[in-house]
Amino acid sequence: MPAVIEYPDKGEDTMELIRIPRIMQDTCRKHLQKGRSIGFVPTMGALHDGHLSLIRRAKSENDIVVASIFVNPLQFGPSEDFASYPRVIDEDTIKLRELGIDVIFIPDNSLMYPPGFSTYIDAGPVSEKLCGQFRPGHFRGVATVVAKLLNLISPTRAYFGRKDFQQTVVIRRMTRDLDINTEIVVCPTIREEDGLAMSSRNRYLSAGERAAATVLFRAMSTVSDGLQAGGTSISELKKNLISEISKEGLITSIDYASIYNPETLEEIKESGQLKEVLVAVAVRMGKTRLIDNLIVNLT
Ligand code: PAF
Repeated sequence: MPAVIEYPDKGEDTMELIRIPRIMQDTCRKHLQKGRSIGFVPTMGALHDGHLSLIRRAKSENDIVVASIFVNPLQFGPSEDFASYPRVIDEDTIKLRELGIDVIFIPDNSLMYPPGFSTYIDAGPVSEKLCGQFRPGHFRGVATVVAKLLNLISPTRAYFGRKDFQQTVVIRRMTRDLDINTEIVVCPTIREEDGLAMSSRNRYLSAGERAAATVLFRAMSTVSDGLQAGGTSISELKKNLISEISKEGLITSIDYASIYNPETLEEIKESGQLKEVLVAVAVRMGKTRLIDNLIVNLT
């Protein structure tokens, strides 16, 4: 596979596909030297409307848009779905091309993590809460790959979906702590009509599981309404959240379902002075792990 492929039939508007990290770095450096802003959307592929909304936002705010597709082995545990994670590069490339992005970066594992690779980023306490308790090493893998991608691309802005709320907290922490000069833009979760948050992992769900998964948004919305109406204690709302989700027989287990401080990710007992709280859930349905969240404004 050549390092750079240009799509000739795209006329003036060529999209480059780059596979080699150093070429990616040189390409972006040239754009930046010409005074162009770069918007970057990192992905693991299997693109859905959530990803496409990030690309559209990046296009509206930057001169150049770069998207990466890389199923990052570092962020998967040994018993997780790295091998079976959907890889549909051709389908993804068509979608990105239709949106008119400038560069797709699809690096090889061996170039991202060459022999001797041994430096990792640990974002501290925010990576140990919520999903961190159930996916040890996950956020270390995410922070490490995102730091590498930000160093290769030096984007003006990088775009992430709020659906992976904890990931956005970890990445914000990392970019602040390491003085990475990229604005982190967090965009709304995109949902199916019945409320299910779009996710590449929704492809794993059977028809029955897909229908059952809507309980997450319903249960979180009930909590959100309760928080905004006032009058019900946080502990009561948490109990209701767990009991509503547990009633759905196809949910095998609940990793967590509760109400948190959106900055520290600590579970809260009362909302106190907080202007916003995070309602977040992670459940398992057979072999699929689903996460979702809502930010609830209390002002
Ligand atoms: O959200 C994702 O798809 C991944 O965690 C990311 C940010 C692309 C890093 O591999």
